[in-house]
Amino acid sequence: MNPVPISANDRELVELATAVRERAYAPYSNYLVGAALRARDGRIFTGCNVENAAYPSTLCAERTALVKAVSEGAREFETIAVVALAKSGPCGGCLQMLYEFAPDLHFYMADPDGNVSISVPMKELLPYGFGPEWLR
Ligand code: THU
Repeated sequence: MNPVPISANDRELVELATAVRERAYAPYSNYLVGAALRARDGRIFTGCNVENAAYPSTLCAERTALVKAVSEGAREFETIAVVALAKSGPCGGCLQMLYEFAPDLHFYMADPDGNVSISVPMKELLPYGFGPEWLR
């Protein structure tokens, strides 16, 4: 199978997500995830999953990156890279949180060896997303 194309710029996101994945706190699932989110202003915010003994309090890597970014004043995003072992997209909760700020976000999913398995726009993962426009 042909490798999924990725620019050098976006490859940097995969590398940052791979590095931050090492900081994942996942003693319950042992499933480590890292994410790197690029804002429109060029800043990159990283995040890992942070689990909790009260399991539902767990925060996914994507949401960690997003809340770090919004806390630092970034609200517009271009691209996110997520690094984990599974060739799957992000969970529904993360898609919903990201959709709020970035309905046109582009996603890359990769494994820790840098193999990109998915390159897809938000519109394909969440085609009928519920966003702020419905509450105006
Ligand atoms: N997880 C993420 O961080 N991102 C995903 O896209 C999928 C799931 C985390 C949550 C939990 O810590 C572990 O992976 C297993 O579900």
